[in-house]
Amino acid sequence: MKGYYGNVVLITGASSGIGKACAEYMARLGYRVYGTSRRAPESSPEALENGMTMVRMDVCSDGSVKAAIDSIIRREGEIGIVINNAGMGIAGAVEDTSPQEAFLQMDTNFFGVHRVIRQVLPHMRKKGRGLIINMSSVGALFPIPYQSMYVAAKAAVEGMTGSLRNELRPFGIKAAYVEPGDTKTGFTGSRIMTKESGEGSAYYRYCKKSVAVMERDEINGPDPITVARAVARLAERKNPPVCVTVGLQYKILVFLKRLVPKALESFVLSKMYKG
Ligand SMILES: NC(=O)c1ccc[n+]([C@@H]2O[C@H](COP(=O)([O-])OP(=O)(O)OC[C@H]3O[C@@H](n4cnc5c(N)ncnc54)[C@H](OP(=O)(O)O)[C@@H]3O)[C@@H](O)[C@H]2O)c1
Repeated sequence: MKGYYGNVVLITGASSGIGKACAEYMARLGYRVYGTSRRAPESSPEALENGMTMVRMDVCSDGSVKAAIDSIIRREGEIGIVINNAGMGIAGAVEDTSPQEAFLQMDTNFFGVHRVIRQVLPHMRKKGRGLIINMSSVGALFPIPYQSMYVAAKAAVEGMTGSLRNELRPFGIKAAYVEPGDTKTGFTGSRIMTKESGEGSAYYRYCKKSVAVMERDEINGPDPITVARAVARLAERKNPPVCVTVGLQYKILVFLKRLVPKALESFVLSKMYKG
């Protein structure tokens, strides 16, 4: 038996990037890892050579989330650690974002986390133990232009996790969130620009420059193994901190944020992202 939460780990969005790095790293540490992807075979969970098992799950579908979690519970009897990592980014000015696009961002990055938590908690409460780690972003803390819905979704994840942590105290279950900074993954290539953010938009040239800066930083960012190590360290702790920021430069940024007036923070961000 590994750690305080058992050795069965569920990681959403484990087909690529941070989720895949977490899954492979935790499998190497001896956890029994179930990773999810919308592209995994529908039938039964598929065991891979790297020690993890892939399960199909679309975090935007109640039925898909339930089916995936039920199938793992049938095999293992419990899920000790959940890493809610699946996510994507939609970029564009607030004015250029349709309600449908805003909802898609929230549905994947926020309601998806909520769906998984709701399905897994009854099992964790029965066992009287568990750890839920939600993948946030340092972006949750900063007013990055043209990333509004992404920033809002991550801020919502952080707010929900804080409340959840307090609700779960009587049940011996812990909740925490992780804030990576720019990381080199498939996220950059999967980013969706809103339909109205093309050449006809009043924001076009500002948005284009700003997103290019963000993408350059992501492409030059560290390997996702840095996040996987931080997640695995969190999973080894009996009393994990509520929030872990990944990387020294981002820890310093988050610390400085507390000291700097909001107006200055906003000005610096707009210069950084050329908005
Ligand atoms: N990369 C960064 O700079 C960075 C920084 C801070 C935070 N993050 C966060 O880290 C997490 C992982 O992102 P990443 O950078 O590793 O990106 P990635 O390489 O694009 O991986 C995203 C993962 O999410 C899954 N996914 C997307 N939509 C899904 C849905 N509707 N249902 C189920 N799975 C879905 C994808 O799986 P399938 O397509 O196979 O279903 C994929 O495995 C995200 O929450 C992201 O916001 C990333």
